Amino acid sequence: MSIREYIIHFQGRELRCPEGMNLRSFLLQSGLSPHNGAARQINCKGLGSCGTCALEIEGEVSEKTAMERWRLNFPPHQESSGLRLACQCKVRGDLKLRKHPGFWGQHVPREE
Ligand code: FES
Repeated sequence: MSIREYIIHFQGRELRCPEGMNLRSFLLQSGLSPHNGAARQINCKGLGSCGTCALEIEGEVSEKTAMERWRLNFPPHQESSGLRLACQCKVRGDLKLRKHPGFWGQHVPREE
């Protein structure tokens, strides 16, 4: 039985990701990062506590973990931003990813 793969678009690249893979781990393995600037070195390494791997995700990923819900309700994040933490997400479908500015990637542009 072969493992299903999904297409991930991020930072001008198109990548093939095995179903169920941790999104942060996959991006790092692919030479990309869900972190901005200094957060590439200063982060919780995937524990879900720092919030610096926040991405805008279009497509299907796993449900929010309890840790992710807690962290995205804690400043500078806010639940209403719609961001997800890459380190807490398992890939479940084709994805389009966007990283917003800010140390945490928290500066989501407001809709007009
Ligand atoms: S790497 Fe820290 S919350 Fe994801």
